[in-house]
Amino acid sequence: MGGAGTQGTGEAPEDGATSGAERASLDTSVAHIARVYNYWLGGKDNFAADRAAAEQAIAAYPQIVLSVRANRAFLSRVVRYLAGEAGIRQFLDIGTGIPTASNTHEVAQSVAPESRVVYVDNDPVVLVHARALLASGPRGVTSYLDADLRDTGRVLAVAAQTLDFSRPVAVLLMAVLQHVDDADDPRAIVAALLEALPPGSYLALSHPASDIDAEAQGKLADRLNQTMAEKVTMRDRAQVARFFGGLELIEPGLVRVPQWRPASELEAASPAGLWGGVGRKD
Ligand SMILES: C[S@@+](CC[C@H](N)C(=O)[O-])C[C@H]1O[C@@H](n2cnc3c(N)ncnc32)[C@H](O)[C@@H]1O
Repeated sequence: MGGAGTQGTGEAPEDGATSGAERASLDTSVAHIARVYNYWLGGKDNFAADRAAAEQAIAAYPQIVLSVRANRAFLSRVVRYLAGEAGIRQFLDIGTGIPTASNTHEVAQSVAPESRVVYVDNDPVVLVHARALLASGPRGVTSYLDADLRDTGRVLAVAAQTLDFSRPVAVLLMAVLQHVDDADDPRAIVAALLEALPPGSYLALSHPASDIDAEAQGKLADRLNQTMAEKVTMRDRAQVARFFGGLELIEPGLVRVPQWRPASELEAASPAGLWGGVGRKD
């Protein structure tokens, strides 16, 4: 698709704020991960049930706050690497989350203004705030799709309206695959996404680790599974590594997210409990 400027899929609301009518269509009585995550990040786009679930999670695993911050910093460093050193100009960011500082298009377009970004999330609150994600720079394009990651056919078909799948694309799956049960075969989902992409494309992902601070992370998962609409499956390093099957892992490989090309020793020392990495399709 040609053309520059902001582009939507037609599914984003007119107003970025949560209006009364939009609120009415949201179930605010049950915690949802997009809003719980927003609370951990210090955001205001959450409701009482989200805050209660988030606080219970903090009580089980206090490092969750540092973990989500380290995860956002990892996302920024990865996108900067992809748009810079790797020369990527197309991004498919699935499980986007409620817009916050340094969204993918902002980081990518700060390096390469012509970058095109498709955001995908299935949470109605993220949809409500999609306007902030559609604020592309004039030389690039962003679009937003309200869809479930498991529906890879729809995700790919709509993304293809914005991205040229004959050229390399980076798929970002940041802290989202833990919400796909083993029964839904997350490896097959990742494989289906990568299958659609040409050589030179990338997969970047982060995933909460069952084998870092195992006991506390186990308690965290139990609490979240009692309180949140979305279920959580923590995975160990070997399980996360399998998502990169057939890809060339970029240095430093699959590591704790603060240790992926950290900006400083202080950043690298964060106790964050997620695995993260970037792989290239040859
Ligand atoms: C923990 S947040 C991560 C947000 C962002 N990727 C980041 O790393 O900062 C997970 C996001 O994935 C979304 N999500 C969860 N399951 C999903 C699914 N099946 N399809 C699409 N999005 C999903 C949630 O709504 C939420 O916004």
